[in-house]
Formats: sequence, C-alpha cells, structure tokens
Amino acid sequence: MRYPSEAEALYLLRKYRLFKEIIEHSKNVARIAVKIAEDIRAAGHEVDVGLVRSAALLHDIGKWKYNRQKGGLLLHAYESGRLLKELGWPELAEVCESHFGLNKEEAMFYGCPEPHDMLPKSLEAKIVFIADKIRPGRSSKEDIIKYFDRKAKDWKLPPDMKERLISRIVKIWEELERLGMRV
Ligand SMILES: [Fe+2]
Ligand SMILES: [Fe+2]
Repeated sequence: MRYPSEAEALYLLRKYRLFKEIIEHSKNVARIAVKIAEDIRAAGHEVDVGLVRSAALLHDIGKWKYNRQKGGLLLHAYESGRLLKELGWPELAEVCESHFGLNKEEAMFYGCPEPHDMLPKSLEAKIVFIADKIRPGRSSKEDIIKYFDRKAKDWKLPPDMKERLISRIVKIWEELERLGMRV
C-alpha cells in the first residue's frame, strides 16, 4: 500500500495552512512513532512503518478547521479522518481520526457532525495515539497521566470521560510496551 511520502505530507500540511508549530509537532510525532514502530518490528511483530510515518505526519491536519473554533479542539481528529478519506486514503484516515481516541458518545458530546467510535484499533493507530502524547519533558507514562489530568479541566471534560481517556492511554501504553516499545 502506498501512502503520502514525507514530502507529500508536508506539502499537504502547508496547502491546508497548518501553523508552523503544528507542522513541527507532526514531524516530532512522526520521529517518535517510527521509533516505536521499529522497536515493535524488531521484537518480531508485523507493523506497517510507512503507514505509521505518514499518519503521524498528517494526524493533526484536521486542525485546519478546528484549531480555534470553540469546543472544536477535540474534533480535529475527526476532521483529519474526514479529509483524508475525501482525498482517497481510507487507511490513513482511520489511523488519524483515532489519534485522540473518542468513543461515539464522547464524539456526540463534542458535537461531532458524524458521531461514531474513533478509538485506535490497529497497531499502527495505537502507535500514533501514544507517540502524539509524548512531548519534550513529557515522556513517561506518569508525566502523560499528570498532563491529561490537568488538561481535563481546560477541556471541561466530565470526570468519567477524563477517567476513560486516562485509562485508554495507560492500557495502550502498556500494550505497546509488552510488544517491545522502548521510550
Ligand atoms: Fe491532535
Ligand atoms: Fe498531535
């Protein structure tokens, strides 16, 4: 399967006028995601590194629409998926739409135009989901949990949704660790 190359992905990010910081973040996520994918492949598991790289570069492309819109922040992942599907990359769309990890009820709560489960299912989607949570100075599972615990207030997440989000991160993190991820 062919996915957009790094140059094509960067071209798309510029075409949709993504902010420079988002492009830099996307390059970082791609670097981390490819490293995790290679760790897992080295441990003997099958993983599509090309899909991981391409999806990591494009996961936030939906921010062209939802970056500043009130209440829309959590829907940018949905828009990434919608747009990539429209551009003819359904596999890429599936990985990108689940990088935030909302179920159907949560998508509805945030006003998603087409609410459905957007949870990372494939190994590639789980890798992009976790790589996106890692930032400079936030690279352990504990730091990431602390960050989302704080962020939940800004995003006005109801407590049960916050708990679900954090438990999803922990579950997927531990699953990738069992498969060979070394962060
Ligand atoms: Fe995102
Ligand atoms: Fe991101």
